[in-house]
Amino acid sequence: MQFKISTASPKKTTILIINDAAQLSKADALSPNEMSFAVAEIKGGNKLVSINQYGRFIYLCLLPKSNTISTSEGLRRTGCALKDLLQKEKVSSIFISNKSSESHAAYWLAEGIALASYQFLKYFSDGKKKANNLANIEFDKNSISLKEVTQLGIITEAVGIARNLVNEPLNTLGAVALSKEITALGKVAGFKTTVLNKAQITKEKMGGILAVNRGSIDPPTFSIMEHKPLKALNKQPIVLVGKGIVYDTGGVSLKPTANSMDRMKSDMSGAALVSAAMFAIAKMKLPLHIIALVPATDNRPGENAYVPGDVIKMYDGTTVEVLNTDAEGRMVLADALHWAKRYKPELVLDFATLTGAAAAITGSEALIYMGTAEDKIKQSFEKSGANQYERIVQLPLWPEYGDMIKSDIADLKNVGGAYGGAITAGKFLEHFTAYPWLHFDIAGVSFATAKKNYHSVGGTGFGLRMLLDYLMHYGK
Ligand code: BES
Ligand code: ZN
Ligand code: ZN
Repeated sequence: MQFKISTASPKKTTILIINDAAQLSKADALSPNEMSFAVAEIKGGNKLVSINQYGRFIYLCLLPKSNTISTSEGLRRTGCALKDLLQKEKVSSIFISNKSSESHAAYWLAEGIALASYQFLKYFSDGKKKANNLANIEFDKNSISLKEVTQLGIITEAVGIARNLVNEPLNTLGAVALSKEITALGKVAGFKTTVLNKAQITKEKMGGILAVNRGSIDPPTFSIMEHKPLKALNKQPIVLVGKGIVYDTGGVSLKPTANSMDRMKSDMSGAALVSAAMFAIAKMKLPLHIIALVPATDNRPGENAYVPGDVIKMYDGTTVEVLNTDAEGRMVLADALHWAKRYKPELVLDFATLTGAAAAITGSEALIYMGTAEDKIKQSFEKSGANQYERIVQLPLWPEYGDMIKSDIADLKNVGGAYGGAITAGKFLEHFTAYPWLHFDIAGVSFATAKKNYHSVGGTGFGLRMLLDYLMHYGK
């Protein structure tokens, strides 16, 4: 989607955002008939009125009023509904003018339109035919700032990048291909990428990554991205870590139920999220020093696969008794979290489709988070989550949960008990941290099995806009 500031014209399909019918005037190019139609529709409760002027359309968007969702989210959803109307008419270009009292209304509406316009068509033979027509969104100069236009373009593109990476299956996006995609993103956006191959990972003795990789015939990768502006607001880097399990069969503890593997190409959603975040961070030239780490492999039950009972020596020297090879995410993340210590980071944020238990708590409505960062940072994240309607719910990391991952024969075991699985997974990760840290479990939110608002089926990118919102407000 292209966004730009432009001027009104009687030829352009125009979207007017208004508080109520009283804001309509002669200047809005409505005939007396159209005007009385619009007033009647609005009176009747229609929040999205379309007027066909045979040559172009005018759509009236009413500022949403709801006690349950925010104005910004209401407008994103209106944008989603509007996108469907525009597609019905095969409109390719629109002009948005905000006359309402909400100064960011045009931004949020356009964001909803753009997020809802995402399509993953590359594997359809007739993909071109299926493609949406809308390609250009123009704004009245009083409806948005130039900075916001740029930001909107970058953020919605980044969400598309995250979704694309998630939607790409294993046979086109294994660990090596993922690291290549990350390198390519760095070249486009301007961040530096270093990729460790299997030999280097072996030399480093990253035992967790190597254990998970043993069942695979494909090598693992460890990608390191860095955005380092000349003048950064933070003295020590912020480190992002993304779980890069490019496919999770469960390993020899094979996933049990009929369809439980169908979406497991999405087990690298954390990697997709942090890579797309780096794209946006570099493109927006955020004044922050940020590093992102992606440990990647598929988790398979190959002949030499790690098995329950194995004791693995992790990168930091900790020994882990593996009791379920399906709890592989924490094994690869632990090594990345240990790697992060070398930067003496001021904050580490990991994103992972880590547990079904997290999904069981909040479903697809919120992500689960926990960690040791100070309350002020947690509050900022909660605020960013609310701003972007990517809401977050905190779980505790009480020491009793740590007792649940004590092993009889090693320092830790990789599973807790039957209950509290999202927290015991978090406790496991905490063991490998030595800095302020937050863990975001995105298992419930990263992949949609049915279209919902501006999320299509497949990768959602959920959490990315929250993270970028946090970083853009950093220090403010
Ligand atoms: N990738 C899964 C978690 C997951 C489940 C993501 C559903 C998305 C949707 C993870 O590797 C896993 O299998 N976790 C196990 C841990 C258990 C064996 C302790 C789980 O949650 O069942
Ligand atoms: Zn698993
Ligand atoms: Zn997994």
